[in-house]
Amino acid sequence: MTASIRRSLSVDLGGLPIATPVMIAAGCAGTGKELGGLVETRRVGAVVTRTITVEPRQGSAPPRIVETPSGIVWSTGLQNPGVDVFLLTELPEWTKGPPVIVSIGGGSLEEYVRLTGALQGRAGIAGIEVHLSGPDEEMQRPVLGAHVDRVTEIVGAVARMSLVPVLAKIPGGVDVVPLAIAAARAGATCLTLTDSPPVWGVRPAAQGRRICPVHRCPGRRCPCRPASHISPSPLRSAPPGSPTASARTRIRVCRRVDI
Ligand SMILES: Cc1cc2nc3c(=O)[nH]c(=O)nc-3n(C[C@H](O)[C@H](O)[C@H](O)COP(=O)(O)O)c2cc1C
Repeated sequence: MTASIRRSLSVDLGGLPIATPVMIAAGCAGTGKELGGLVETRRVGAVVTRTITVEPRQGSAPPRIVETPSGIVWSTGLQNPGVDVFLLTELPEWTKGPPVIVSIGGGSLEEYVRLTGALQGRAGIAGIEVHLSGPDEEMQRPVLGAHVDRVTEIVGAVARMSLVPVLAKIPGGVDVVPLAIAAARAGATCLTLTDSPPVWGVRPAAQGRRICPVHRCPGRRCPCRPASHISPSPLRSAPPGSPTASARTRIRVCRRVDI
């Protein structure tokens, strides 16, 4: 008699156990209601909310999504009702489905701290994803998370306060390796690679160079690059016992699937 083999798709996502490795990326499930009937939520390991900010945001004027031969180009302007209304009206809906990771975004350290404080201890929140791709209002920089100092500061503050696993969402179109290492050292237990890169056209001069087959862009700045470049090796080189070495043991490099 052969013993039956129990197979499981479950994964441990940096301290967050999920039933399948399929997750819905931030913003792609709207307010949580829109996907009802379209997606079998039992096949989804976790879902990330749209990015929530301290104050409500109206978002960009339409059109917000344009289809191109190389993928879609989007700009929602992070429309959301603000954290207070989110907690009252949207979070209860989200918590009816698979584990919920709340995406938070801001333009200053204070905003991230306020958001983490507002989420702290709330039932039904399985993790916090730190959106780092918006403008840095304090430092007057176009992309807050494109700088190691800010990734360290912001992710570190959220991770120190948070009672649930913290995912750092690295901006797209930048050199992700130092940023990913900084996020891991600061306490993120998972990296989200990556936010959509800024849109650009490929100049004729780029033809003949290596072009990414998925995104049709020159390989050096392609969002596909992180998965192959962030191998555990840079993290492994850290001395044993250092914050990086302990983070390394729990870190997962994952790529979201939009469905
Ligand atoms: C319509 C739409 C809305 C999005 N909203 C958010 C958002 O609120 N916060 C966020 O961090 N990312 C948002 N994203 C980005 C996705 O979470 C994801 O990072 C991006 O699509 C890149 O993943 P991909 O290369 O698999 O498409 C949005 C994407 C789309 C298409």
